[in-house]
Amino acid sequence: MTTGDAVPRLAGDRPTLRTLVIIPTFNERENLPLILQRLQRACPAVHVLVVDDNSPDGTGQLADDFAAADPDRIHVMHRTVKDGLGAAYLAGFAWGLSRGYTTVVEMDADGSHAPEQLHLLLEAVDAGADLAIGSRYVEGGNVQNWPWRRWALSWTANTYARLALGIGIHDITAGYRAYRREVLQKIDLDHVDSKGYCFQIDLTWRTITNGFVVTEVPITFTERELGVSKMSGSNIREALVKVAQWGIDGRLHRNRPAPVAR
Ligand code: GDD
Ligand code: MN
Repeated sequence: MTTGDAVPRLAGDRPTLRTLVIIPTFNERENLPLILQRLQRACPAVHVLVVDDNSPDGTGQLADDFAAADPDRIHVMHRTVKDGLGAAYLAGFAWGLSRGYTTVVEMDADGSHAPEQLHLLLEAVDAGADLAIGSRYVEGGNVQNWPWRRWALSWTANTYARLALGIGIHDITAGYRAYRREVLQKIDLDHVDSKGYCFQIDLTWRTITNGFVVTEVPITFTERELGVSKMSGSNIREALVKVAQWGIDGRLHRNRPAPVAR
């Protein structure tokens, strides 16, 4: 599924030539070695940035050990306190943009996002997507090992967001995605303050309202086997309120002429 108008690309322009995969971590000590090994095997050319929020279980030090063993490819950003998935990604985006990466990927540390499917996202970007979303809810996508309550929550959140915002994305909360650098440069990241999975909705909405092409590619999301989820009730409330506000703003401004630059 694709939305937006394609912007012509130069011949030979392959935006995924320099790809950075950002992996935010908070207490993922058991998962980090597994995800890094799988990623190395599946996509040896991509670089990795682990963004750790001073995990008490020592994930940050473990990441340093991996980076020391493979310094060109693996990097670590240490932050002082747990400040949410969104803040970790924003810091990682700034790091990647300042180093010239041409595509930036979001991937969870817990194995829910298969590195073996990363090529699907990168191929979509090379084929013209500005944002490729790894979708559980398009044909061919699916979720493994989720309790029905989690599935119901995700389905409700997606349906609510789709109706409130009036857009056709099936998996707007998805956390497995690839952005072309031009998107991250344009969508005013300085004003993003969403924390939990609202962050994913927020960035999708900004990407679409800035006229970029969004493509959903089917993926299989597998619930973590090790460690625990960090999502909380406050994340849900945040999403409910903000999505309603964006939906209202979008409807109010939809039929107005575009502002003229002065
Ligand atoms: N640095 C940092 N700081 N990392 C964090 C924080 C934080 O405050 N909170 C979570 N993470 C990391 C986790 O360690 C993991 O690698 C990743 O972010 C996802 O966190 P989970 O706690 O496993 O999230 P989830 O499985 O509930 O949610 C996933 O699915 C949602 C859609 O259903 C994520 O992919 C979400 O982005 C997505 O919206
Ligand atoms: Mn998870």
